[in-house]
Amino acid sequence: MKILLTGGAGFMGSNMIHYLLREYQDIEVINFDDLTYAGNLESLTDVAQDPRYTFVKGNIIDTNAVETAIQGVDVVINYAAETHVDRSILDPRAFIDTNIYGVYNILEAVRKHKIHRYIQISTDEVFGAVLEGESDEQSKFEPRSPYSASKAAGDHLCAAYAITYGVPVIVTHSCNFYGPYQFPEKLIPLFTMNLIEGKKVPVYGDGQQVREWIFTHDHCRAVDVIMRKGNPGEIYNIGTGYRVPNLEVIKQMLDLTGRGEEAIEYVLDRPGHDRRYAVNSNKLRTELGWEPQVSFEEGLAKTVEWYKNNPDWINRCRTGEYKEYYLKQYGNK
Ligand code: DAU
Repeated sequence: MKILLTGGAGFMGSNMIHYLLREYQDIEVINFDDLTYAGNLESLTDVAQDPRYTFVKGNIIDTNAVETAIQGVDVVINYAAETHVDRSILDPRAFIDTNIYGVYNILEAVRKHKIHRYIQISTDEVFGAVLEGESDEQSKFEPRSPYSASKAAGDHLCAAYAITYGVPVIVTHSCNFYGPYQFPEKLIPLFTMNLIEGKKVPVYGDGQQVREWIFTHDHCRAVDVIMRKGNPGEIYNIGTGYRVPNLEVIKQMLDLTGRGEEAIEYVLDRPGHDRRYAVNSNKLRTELGWEPQVSFEEGLAKTVEWYKNNPDWINRCRTGEYKEYYLKQYGNK
């Protein structure tokens, strides 16, 4: 099987490349990535010489580059996306380009080249804040940030291409993922990095917002089973049911890094901050037989350990553009 995996130098994409090459011998993976701020090929140095792996530098908003890269592949998995909510609030433009126009380019190329399967990696944030209960695959889209609105638009395009042209696209809506190689702007890697370095952690608002967490390995297993057994045109939610307020996650991080509650600094809330997410993942479990394997405690401990052991990787993330973003978002701390 030949897979075009877009966004493979990012957190989830690089984890999936490791997973696929480890799990399957008869596989070829093309990593198509433009190496924007969150892309880091150092996450893939261990597989760089593997004959089953190729890297192509390219952006999904470049129609010709997508057209060229897609020739002869069986499956496309699209991890390429602008993903950070705070960045979308500061400047939404790149989100519109990548998450909407980029998805359109892939859909067109998949249609034209009659690709066997296209997996679009999306998010539970398209359902908006779920104050009670859970969102299932039929729930209404109510995105509330420029990020989630752009992902919702990409998902709508996928649904429209499946219905109108019979494009064999499957969309996933995942809860929050975490693990090694995650760019240090999201809650878990940012706070881990700050705590290891003796800095404070900026908690938005009251810290009682609820998120549902999945360890990267379980997410890779879910995408794998969806790619192999999922039905074209379908949507699958990916979730663990492990839902806790941010402060609970932070307390576990304090314990793992030996820091105390004085490390917590309450800061201004994120505009439009979604209070709670909760995805119903019964369809994935009952129809495709997937279950999460890694508990949050185990996954978080592995993640914190990885960041403790990889200060060079963290430092390289921190150059140039990230530094500017960090200063804009958190000031000079
Ligand atoms: O739900 C899936 C989504 O999870 C993905 O689609 C997004 O790409 C991903 O960024 C993530 O969105 P969140 O906004 O939930 O993730 P983030 O790590 O930015 O924030 C998690 C929670 O922690 C959220 O309630 C905001 C809070 N937070 C975050 C940061 C970065 C803080 O309190 N302080 C912070 O500095």
